[in-house]
Amino acid sequence: MPLATMEIDFLKQLIAQRSGNVISSNQDYLLESRLIPVAKSVGLENVHALVAELRKQPGSALPERVAEAMTINETSFFRDMAPFETLKDIVIPTMIQKRASTKSLSIWCGASSSGQEPYTIAMIIREYFNELSSWNVKIHATDLSEEMVKRTQEGAYSQFEINRGLPAPMLLRHFERSGAQWRARPELRKMIDARRMNLTSAWPIASQYDIVFLRNVMIYFDQPTKERILTRIHKVLRPDGYLFLGGGETLITLNVPFLREPTGKTVCFRPVAV
Ligand SMILES: C[S@@+](CC[C@H](N)C(=O)[O-])C[C@H]1O[C@@H](n2cnc3c(N)ncnc32)[C@H](O)[C@@H]1O
Repeated sequence: MPLATMEIDFLKQLIAQRSGNVISSNQDYLLESRLIPVAKSVGLENVHALVAELRKQPGSALPERVAEAMTINETSFFRDMAPFETLKDIVIPTMIQKRASTKSLSIWCGASSSGQEPYTIAMIIREYFNELSSWNVKIHATDLSEEMVKRTQEGAYSQFEINRGLPAPMLLRHFERSGAQWRARPELRKMIDARRMNLTSAWPIASQYDIVFLRNVMIYFDQPTKERILTRIHKVLRPDGYLFLGGGETLITLNVPFLREPTGKTVCFRPVAV
């Protein structure tokens, strides 16, 4: 029996509350297919039973699992290319000059999915910026999904995932065979600190960042959520830092303290003083 409208509305509301993700009506079909495994994993027969359980136990860990199961984790190495060229040609060289006295550089990749984005950044640093080997370079990778965070920590990818964007010479330099997969070499893995973090809850972040990647996640949020998150990003990004958003993401119509700045072949967002 298909999910009733009331069940669909209940699930969408719960997901929006937990993760800010707005499930549109043409994605309703995903509720059933993504949530059946969650239901089965806690011994429930189907998604109807899961909804009933969620109504009974709103405070359990189950709502988090439902929100995580509904995330779209599409990603790839060097996704869209231009932002990474800009990172290599303009942003990192600029930061090397600006941080010469402290010799530290901190990068946050929010919504990093299975890790291809932070590993791309780490490979760029290793390939092109030998001088940074003596610096304190941090790449923090965070995502809502526990499963994606584990994948990032593991740093292992299928041949299919590798074929989506990772050039063969880089593969051979930075990855090694691990059964049917390719695993990032330890020196690459140790550059990345991956943790679970919900962008719509408390941020256990002590650092200030020089560069923030927040790509292809704002599309899932409504306008007030986007504004809240970007205002918080402004607080953790240094005044001369750079924010990268996804190619289709813009700040037009949003009331946030960032200025759009064409940079190389892409666009960065720069914090404005408030
Ligand atoms: C489409 S992927 C983008 C991955 C990568 N940034 C890229 O551009 O290739 C979106 C990611 O955002 C994460 N996400 C969705 N809502 C989130 C939230 N509230 N807090 C943290 N991460 C979230 C999802 O788990 C998913 O891995």
